[in-house]
Amino acid sequence: MCGIVGVAAKRDIASLLLEGLQRLEYRGYDSAGIALRLAGGELRRLRRAGFVSRLIEDFERDPMAGEVGIAHTRWATHGAPTERNAHPLFSGREVAVAHNGIVENYEQLRDQLAASGVSFSSDTDTECIAHLVALELRAGKDLAAATRDALSQLVGTYSVVVLAAAEPGAFVAANRGAPMVVGLGESENYAASDISALLHATRRYRFLRNGDIALVRADRVEISGPAGEAVDRPLVESEFGPESVERGAYRHYMQKEIFEQAGAVRNTLRPLIVEGLPDHFLFGAELAGRFGDIAAVHIAACGSAYNAGLVARQWLQEHAGMPCTVEIASEYRYHPPPCPENCLYLAISQSGETADTLAATRLALERGYLGVAALSNVATSSLVRMVEHSLLTRAGLEVGVASTKALLTQLVALAMMTLALARQQGKPDQDVRALTQQVAALPDLIEQLLEMDARMEQLAGHFENRGHALFLGRGPMWPVAMEGALKLKELSYIHAEAYAAGELKHGPLALVDDSMMVVALAPDDGLLPKLRTNLEEVRARGGQLFVVSAPRADLGREDGMIVVRLPAPSTNLQAPVLYTVPLQLLAYHAAVRKGNNVDRPRNLAKSVTVD
Ligand code: G6P
Repeated sequence: MCGIVGVAAKRDIASLLLEGLQRLEYRGYDSAGIALRLAGGELRRLRRAGFVSRLIEDFERDPMAGEVGIAHTRWATHGAPTERNAHPLFSGREVAVAHNGIVENYEQLRDQLAASGVSFSSDTDTECIAHLVALELRAGKDLAAATRDALSQLVGTYSVVVLAAAEPGAFVAANRGAPMVVGLGESENYAASDISALLHATRRYRFLRNGDIALVRADRVEISGPAGEAVDRPLVESEFGPESVERGAYRHYMQKEIFEQAGAVRNTLRPLIVEGLPDHFLFGAELAGRFGDIAAVHIAACGSAYNAGLVARQWLQEHAGMPCTVEIASEYRYHPPPCPENCLYLAISQSGETADTLAATRLALERGYLGVAALSNVATSSLVRMVEHSLLTRAGLEVGVASTKALLTQLVALAMMTLALARQQGKPDQDVRALTQQVAALPDLIEQLLEMDARMEQLAGHFENRGHALFLGRGPMWPVAMEGALKLKELSYIHAEAYAAGELKHGPLALVDDSMMVVALAPDDGLLPKLRTNLEEVRARGGQLFVVSAPRADLGREDGMIVVRLPAPSTNLQAPVLYTVPLQLLAYHAAVRKGNNVDRPRNLAKSVTVD
């Protein structure tokens, strides 16, 4: 989704801003722009619909220079993705604004501003902010105060950077409910919506809290709180450098990230297993003290993280005997399930910035849970900073919009959480130890699976020209089927749906004919005979079967069926992790064959920061 970057320095900063935009591209966007304050005080901008590369080409043809500026990648919400609506938005030549989020009362503000003679040159909600700041500046306020007073009139969640012709050498960064980070350099300072925009410039950051206003100059950053009082926000050193977002020899980030999965899972598991058992302190000391009291778990998440939550529900029920409810975060925030006694709330989010997950968690914090926890990949994210307890995955930066390594690390962290709770519920140590060993074996098993890449590349050809696919699984493999369908549709634009295999006869079978691909997940568990019946039902209607199965699973008649056998058998704690990998490869290769933009599928965003 939208990305923001701002720089104040004692040198020309155009290239820093443009590189920041390139580093924000992974989030998904449809237009981009840059505004600089030129040496004479004039604000000038260049905006383009489409890719940042286009903006850069045109910029290089007719460059401009300035020591302070802001830039933005836009994912349209209000107004079409055109140059006219691209940020930065201007108020005359006085103020430039780049904004993430939504101004919910923009219609009212627009009417008020129009009534007082302001004319609008875009269809965005953002332009109101530029005009409001300009009015406050004209009333004699400085840029920080003008921005504060303008923002106090907005309803909604946002992050914003503001540049003014009247304020040399400075810009303002502010946020409410959406992330904004200030980066600290040598004689230059920065702000961005996401540290990945600044990795080429610094590793030192201060994260703004809601209502903060930062006045950023080359030689200093002054942060003030909601009432204008000076505040100090902790200095955070990031472990990530620019190399964490290099693509290396891989053709796409997604491919690189699929191949990094064994390492990511290994890194995530390392601190979670202590002497062969799950770490009792996996959510920190405070929650460890109350772990034995946990009687139920509520999970809220979106996208692939939601699918991880659904797998965890099955594991928690089976291994810890623990009731677990999993809600899509956008549903939870408006229709939360009743909060039982001693229930742990867990938000799962790779980025820790998904607007709906943040909103659900904000609500959860008010609801009397035993604890409010997060499973996230980003230690400095809004989610982790908001909750009481957190567990971090160690997937490294994930750039491809479609989640791969982040999902696998979430699954193994959830497996360890399940086992820690199972132990508390009285499962004997020797059983927990054996189950922990199964989880610990996953990195090596994932490595073996990646050897299937060439085969999956070839088999992806069966999907290339299909319009529809059904994915079937049972138990914990049902959410894996959901993840497989999600990956295929978002990357290859093939319509794909997942069903619990037993539901086949209750509707989807009506769609099965010889144009339908049916992907079935067949681990060698007690339900294999049932699944065999489903396969026959599909075969009888001419559907093309694609079965991902255990090495020796008895699938019955295999003629006319495409069968992909995993190299080794897997247990119930392993199968959801392992069966996900061939489905990722399948979706990846189907999309590459179709010539799609795998890392940035159309209309999608890595981090969905608006609701
Ligand atoms: C977007 C991404 C998905 C991701 C989901 C949740 O839809 O494209 O890959 O699973 O957001 O993101 P989160 O960062 O909260 O895990």
